[in-house]
Amino acid sequence: MFAISVGEGAELRPIEPWHAEELLAHVERAREYAGPWVPFTVKVKDLESARAHLQHFAERQAADTGRLYGIWLDGTLVGGVLFRIFDTAVESCEVGVWLEPSAAGRGLITNASRVIIDWAVDQRGMHRIEWLVSSRNERSKGVAARLGFVLDGVLRESFPWQGVRHDMEVWSVLAPEWREARAAREAAEGAEAAGAAGAQA
Ligand SMILES: CC(C)(COP(=O)(O)OP(=O)(O)OC[C@H]1O[C@@H](n2cnc3c(N)ncnc32)[C@H](O)[C@@H]1OP(=O)(O)O)[C@@H](O)C(=O)NCCC(=O)NCCS
Repeated sequence: MFAISVGEGAELRPIEPWHAEELLAHVERAREYAGPWVPFTVKVKDLESARAHLQHFAERQAADTGRLYGIWLDGTLVGGVLFRIFDTAVESCEVGVWLEPSAAGRGLITNASRVIIDWAVDQRGMHRIEWLVSSRNERSKGVAARLGFVLDGVLRESFPWQGVRHDMEVWSVLAPEWREARAAREAAEGAEAAGAAGAQA
């Protein structure tokens, strides 16, 4: 299957209904870590629910209203990124992310998010990309900030989950901001590479 590198030994690939067994095994490793923030990692609890989750996204992909991608690290499914909302009429989409704990702290989500947001902005004309996150979820907010999202506001106590009414923060980045940040990052990386080459010469 085609794949995009998102780090050493790490690949972003489509995840489809035939991956149900892999998804279930992954979710069992991810549940305790991701469950407080990502409901599907609790709701997927057997092969049938794993297949149904993947089938749901396959249908949304076919309708161009949502998408789901897995991240494999050294051949094991360890997390993913998705478009929970993909609305071409208003040119707005919402990104979601999750990992199992062994894959955290390597930049996989930052890199994978960049791949799908580049696609949404460059290929699909998305103008606004959203990131919804509980105000308690510091790691996810850290990724959003690293990617250049800014906080729009807070939907107070809008998400009841596992006995907690979460304040949901809405973060966003707009297409011109995304392009500008990407150009600045590429220029910085280019300068760093030129500096390293100069030091070796
Ligand atoms: C939210 C979540 C996906 C973030 O995972 P993460 O590992 O922090 O994010 P990334 O994969 O982008 O990695 C970033 C970390 O790797 C480090 N890193 C290492 N190499 C890196 C690289 N090349 N590029 C970027 N970051 C790198 C960063 O410094 C950062 O670590 P730090 O936060 O300690 O500074 C993860 O904590 C998770 O799955 N949580 C449970 C589910 C969840 O909350 N989902 C989001 C719901 S809104």
